[in-house]
Amino acid sequence: MKLLITGASGLLGLSLALEGMRAHEVIGVDRGKLKSAPFAVLKADLLRRNAIDSMLDQAQPDWLVNCAALTNLEVCEEYPDLARVLNAEIPGELAYACAKRGIRFVHISTDAVFDGEKTELYTEADQPNPLGVYSQTKLDGERIVQEADSKAIVARVNFFGWSLSGKHSLGEFFVNNLSAGKYVNGFTDIIFCPIFVYHTASLLVAMLEKGLCGLYHIVGGQAMSKYQFGVEIARKFGLQEGLISPKSVLSSGLTARRSHNLRLTTHKLSTDLGREIPNFSTGLDEFYTQYQQGYPQKIRGYQQELPTESKDLSTGAA
Ligand SMILES: NC(=O)c1ccc[n+]([C@@H]2O[C@H](COP(=O)([O-])OP(=O)(O)OC[C@H]3O[C@@H](n4cnc5c(N)ncnc54)[C@H](OP(=O)(O)O)[C@@H]3O)[C@@H](O)[C@H]2O)c1
Repeated sequence: MKLLITGASGLLGLSLALEGMRAHEVIGVDRGKLKSAPFAVLKADLLRRNAIDSMLDQAQPDWLVNCAALTNLEVCEEYPDLARVLNAEIPGELAYACAKRGIRFVHISTDAVFDGEKTELYTEADQPNPLGVYSQTKLDGERIVQEADSKAIVARVNFFGWSLSGKHSLGEFFVNNLSAGKYVNGFTDIIFCPIFVYHTASLLVAMLEKGLCGLYHIVGGQAMSKYQFGVEIARKFGLQEGLISPKSVLSSGLTARRSHNLRLTTHKLSTDLGREIPNFSTGLDEFYTQYQQGYPQKIRGYQQELPTESKDLSTGAA
């Protein structure tokens, strides 16, 4: 199948492209960050007029996975109009164009659509209640996509892995700082279910291969605080966990409100796929193996040199 991926320079988009190309033809859509990637790259800025039709005319894909978004929560608070366009309106336009052309569409959403007040695991049937601009616009995107294309997959995710810049994900934050012997804070009051990004990618490909549609949670099976996540990373990488201070997110000075409990079940996904979701420790092992094998340096080689004065609004763990 021909798989088109928007946001191919992003953490998920790049991992999905590299995973997807093992069995499918991949075309990544990029605004100009990628060079010498091992898959075809189509240059497009989704904010440009006619970008979507022109991209689909050129690529003629069977499947489109939209990994493009404004993912930095603080930037979304600062630029709510841009967040709305990128996280809601463009996904709607992509879904509409795909439905019209018979292209299977996957839209990536977030676990953060929930307010975190529920004590049990969140299911796909639970009512979202977003707390900030990022999560509100992501939820709006889910709804617009589902209206435009009833066959679309909408996947709520949260993942860790190695990114093009080497600084995007929470996992990289801990590895980079602890390796440099720096003290960092780890939030004890944000619980989430991280999954290794290559596992997210292979699950997305499997969902497309199986012809699934509708709303799914794709997260890890083990809930932990961001502090615990840092400790797990430190232990795996042989770094000093004592450099991580347990702190409340309320003392962080971050402006965007964050949900305290993002424990989501993946029961629906594992049932419909007929397979177990890979567990956190397997993902952490693979994250570490990639590190040992020089994967972070390898993917950094796919990056175009950027002028130093250019401002990057996308950087920052979602
Ligand atoms: N990271 C997480 O754990 C997490 C958690 C929950 C949900 N998610 C969701 O997962 C998806 C992927 O997240 P990520 O962390 O991989 O994102 P990311 O690394 O921030 O990547 C975002 C991508 O969107 C692209 N993009 C932004 N504006 C664009 C435009 N105008 N035209 C074309 N492309 C544009 C970026 O391109 P440039 O590189 O050119 O800026 C980049 O490739 C997002 O929908 C996000 O909301 C992620």
